Amino acid sequence: MAKKIALIPGDGIGPEVSNAATSVVDALGVKIDWVELEVGAAAFAKYGKPVPDHVFDEVKDLGVALKGPATTPIGGGFSSPNVALRQGLDLYASLRPVRTLPGVKSRFSDVDIVVVRENTEGLYSSKEHLVVPGVAESLKICTEQASIRIAEFAFDYAVKNNRRKVTAVHKANIMKLTDGMFLECARKVSHKYGDIEYNELIVDNVCMQLVIDPTRFDVLLMENLYGDIVSELCSGLVGGVGVVPGANYGRKAVIFEAVHGSAPDIAGKNRANPLGIILSARLMLDHIGEHAASERLYSAILKLLSDADSLTPDLGGKAGTREMTSALIARL
Ligand code: NAI
Repeated sequence: MAKKIALIPGDGIGPEVSNAATSVVDALGVKIDWVELEVGAAAFAKYGKPVPDHVFDEVKDLGVALKGPATTPIGGGFSSPNVALRQGLDLYASLRPVRTLPGVKSRFSDVDIVVVRENTEGLYSSKEHLVVPGVAESLKICTEQASIRIAEFAFDYAVKNNRRKVTAVHKANIMKLTDGMFLECARKVSHKYGDIEYNELIVDNVCMQLVIDPTRFDVLLMENLYGDIVSELCSGLVGGVGVVPGANYGRKAVIFEAVHGSAPDIAGKNRANPLGIILSARLMLDHIGEHAASERLYSAILKLLSDADSLTPDLGGKAGTREMTSALIARL
């Protein structure tokens, strides 16, 4: 029987790259009944909300979604549909596996890092106010509950995926209470996972070491803001956000999505690189137990990357999104 999975195409290049990903998954022979859901501008025009209530219900019911990027208007309009989905579904853990892909130009040849980012608190709690004119304050929230659950997520991931080490990234020398609590929780959790090595490093030092020698790292565990910045830095180590997958995990649902945005500058031009969402779909296949299909997809991607003619312009080729997708399907 086909498995029902939510498909949120998004907007901008979202529908083009989502279509590429579903075509590839379908071509693998994995039986999926895609349930398409609208968010962003189109949903706002119809329902007055960037993420309508029925979308939350449907994703919760199905438990798994594949999502394309969605635009957030700048300086007005509706609020971010991406943030709404993360908050509304309590998708507390962002996972970004960052791995060198042969054929993709980058500074390093052997990067294999996983960034685990706490998604719900820290400086992203939107608790900001003007104290007096000329003085603004933004609150950084850290709770034991969220810190323990993200540390457990990182260690569980390490165990299930044969990783050796978890590094907790912090600035507890300056933010002694918030980052101090985050570290204490990570340390407490680490004691339950004797087989996984654990260490702690200050975030600025991590950034320097990453650009010198990223092979020093395995799983990186961090709070929201550091995770946002360091995960982009890590993407840059392997060729940028176009070639890195992502997933946001909650207890009730997981959303697999590319980490790049809706790229309005190239939307509708058949120029978008679909690899980010295709690699995210591969994470989804592993999540639903389709490991053989996931492996087949990965080896086809590696073959495709050695043929520059079949790649989109950002990867140095001249092919369009549709041509690159067909070339990948031909190699499955
Ligand atoms: P962006 O990632 O959309 O674009 C940055 C640059 O990278 C552009 O030049 C674009 O053409 C290029 N690019 C991005 N993805 C590409 C792909 N797959 N293939 C080839 N080139 C690609 O970032 P930007 O411009 O900051 O954001 C645009 C919109 O996307 C904003 O409304 C933002 O809020 C939204 N966004 C949505 C995300 C999501 O849905 N998860 C994540 C990040 C941004």
